[in-house]
Amino acid sequence: MPDFVPVGIVGVGTCLPERVVTNKELETMIETTDEWIVNRTGIRERRIARSEEATSDLAVQAARRALTSAGVEPDEVDLIIVATATPDHVFPATASLVQDQLGCSKAGAFDLSAGCTGFMYALVSGSTFVSGGNLGTVLVIGAETISKMLNWKDRSTCILFGDGAGAVVLREVPRSTGLLASYLGSDGSGGPLLQVPAGGSRMPNCHQTLDASLHCLHMNGREVYRFAVRVMGDAALDVVKRAGLNKEDIDLFIPHQANIRIIEAAAKRLGLSMDKVLVNVDRYGNTSSASVPIALDEALRSGRIKSGNNVVMVGFGAGLSWGAVVMKWQ
Ligand code: UT7
Repeated sequence: MPDFVPVGIVGVGTCLPERVVTNKELETMIETTDEWIVNRTGIRERRIARSEEATSDLAVQAARRALTSAGVEPDEVDLIIVATATPDHVFPATASLVQDQLGCSKAGAFDLSAGCTGFMYALVSGSTFVSGGNLGTVLVIGAETISKMLNWKDRSTCILFGDGAGAVVLREVPRSTGLLASYLGSDGSGGPLLQVPAGGSRMPNCHQTLDASLHCLHMNGREVYRFAVRVMGDAALDVVKRAGLNKEDIDLFIPHQANIRIIEAAAKRLGLSMDKVLVNVDRYGNTSSASVPIALDEALRSGRIKSGNNVVMVGFGAGLSWGAVVMKWQ
């Protein structure tokens, strides 16, 4: 078997916009209640970017913090991957803008689109560059200003999401630690269940698409909910098995933060008590591809991850797509 370089996360950073929008504030904008939102989703508040604040602005701040926590200089970065569903522009890639802002003069850069699963896809992709021995340092960022794509008159979607960014630095780690196993899934037949219909080559934006809010996020919540409950548990079980572990070996489960009911259903499937599950959906809502690295940062800062712990991270979202990894913390 060819040798491979063990790869792990050596630095984490996040950026959350300052503005907090509570459920009470939403009550003044749309026909909803704090009680409905809390009972159906677990969300109490979310962060919303300023009008002049774009995805790359959040990504750059999260990345700077991740580089500092890893003790890595910008010119040591070989590659930047930005997972986002809300890029600054159709092109150039947000990752190129981030590369310039950070001063990562020796880095390649590209964006990755996999909806809310984007960070999981980017984490697995970035890891392969390091594990194959091709690159030494990869910066992986999940960043979103999804508030800019919401229809603020659609109460079934606008209450769910929030803005933010999370970044990690990938490097070689001691053998038997770092990424143990990964799993990526896709079912494109479910694409229409969660999409921004207009603004691409299928339906370029025009006055009619704007009038019909087709440039905004559209979702069949019930179907996505059913899909999410199924894949979260399955993907976690699958990846744990691939790592040669049992579900009893999971020390911390970091799921995509979309809805507390989805998270609890996945935990039940895994036989995990909620004290082994990271939950912050109450404070940030669904930050799409930023949710897992933001939750990871919180877990590390609060001391919930210790050396030798097996950490399972799972994402799901538009595509439909899903992905999971197991990491043994070094
Ligand atoms: O990253 C992946 C992104 N997406 C997700 O993870 C979303 C997955 N889906 C969900 O989390 C849930 O389906 C929702 C939270 C979106 C909705 O919860 P639900 O329990 O599936 O509610 P529902 O869509 O079945 O709607 C129930 C009722 C409806 O009224 P009627 O038809 O029963 O009279 C809705 O019109 O709740 C109504 N409703 C609301 N009421 C107050 C929908 N949104 C709201 C609201 N406030 N914000």
